[in-house]
Amino acid sequence: MTRVLPAESGSLAEAARLLASGSLVAFPTETVYGLGADATDGRAVAAIFEAKRRPRFNPLITHVPDLESAGAFVAFDERAFALAEAFWPGPLTLVLPRLPNCRLADLVSAGLDSAAVRVPGHPLARDLLRAAHRPIAAPSANRSGRISPTTADHVLAEFPEGEVMAVLDGGPCPVGLESTVLDLRGERPVLLRPGGLPIEDIERVCGPLARPDGGGAPRSPGMLDRHYAPGKPLRLDAAVPRPGEALLGFGPMAATLNLSPAGDLAEAAANLFGCLRVLDAGGFPRLAVAPIPPRGLGVAINDRLRRAATPPDANADDWPEVCATMPCMAVVDPDDEGD
Ligand code: TXA
Ligand code: MG
Repeated sequence: MTRVLPAESGSLAEAARLLASGSLVAFPTETVYGLGADATDGRAVAAIFEAKRRPRFNPLITHVPDLESAGAFVAFDERAFALAEAFWPGPLTLVLPRLPNCRLADLVSAGLDSAAVRVPGHPLARDLLRAAHRPIAAPSANRSGRISPTTADHVLAEFPEGEVMAVLDGGPCPVGLESTVLDLRGERPVLLRPGGLPIEDIERVCGPLARPDGGGAPRSPGMLDRHYAPGKPLRLDAAVPRPGEALLGFGPMAATLNLSPAGDLAEAAANLFGCLRVLDAGGFPRLAVAPIPPRGLGVAINDRLRRAATPPDANADDWPEVCATMPCMAVVDPDDEGD
């Protein structure tokens, strides 16, 4: 049985005990629910990949309670320090060089010499990280290639009974989109994934970000085209629905469901994955979504929608390139669709 633990102190102790024993525990963050395991325990981390049915080892984000804890695993330079000071706790993930004596399991980094770290903003996540006394590796708590969960019920619907030992229930995730991922190892910071922290906010602290989509191979598996996918075809930038389509609206308009009738991007981000799940389970064979303004959180919303709208075989051609940038992934099955 997967246990649902309510948000109270006894639950934190129980979740910490399960994590220490190598079990998987799903927990809320401000972005989406994470599927957590002890990041220093290679076998526990391997269980994450098994539960997600990921045929390959994509690198995972390590969650820590504060900046000081992160400093035990990766090397912070001045720029990384400034970004962490400005935005942690919050929806920002930093990819930095692993320290020589880094205790994180190699599998967390999928064999790379870098690691992704973040301090989540959700109070329950930080309480859990403090109670656990260990870094927690956690991808979004969904099966590979599917929609990220923003409630405990979404998590329960993803995994067979008992595969995940417990879900800490913190209610709906307030941000609703995964964290923004920055690679800080080069001269200019590279945006690996737009997410819950708007790009404009980041650029105010560290100057213009480089976009990896300016050519060359993707640098992060999260950049694969298809991702976050509902089971049904999805049409973008739709003003009115065509026959057979459910319309996901934005702003004042007639729609099957509306991300934010008031046209508020933060509200739309928080509702995005839940709305996609509802429409996917509903009676319409096809989905369409209204245009979303491409500013602030709209950049990340459009990124997820574009990936969700990509036909299922669209990643096939990306794989040789991705694998070439990540030697550890060179032998894996190219059928998977990301995380
Ligand atoms: O909001 C979030 O980030 C959620 C919550 C649970 O924290 N987590 C999440 O994890 O979305 P995941 O595994 O679904 O996405 C991790 C992203 C992927 O795009 C992965 O490729 C990238 O971070 N990443 C992790 N480590 C990396 C590394 N060493 N180098 C490059 N990219 C890395
Ligand atoms: Mg994910």
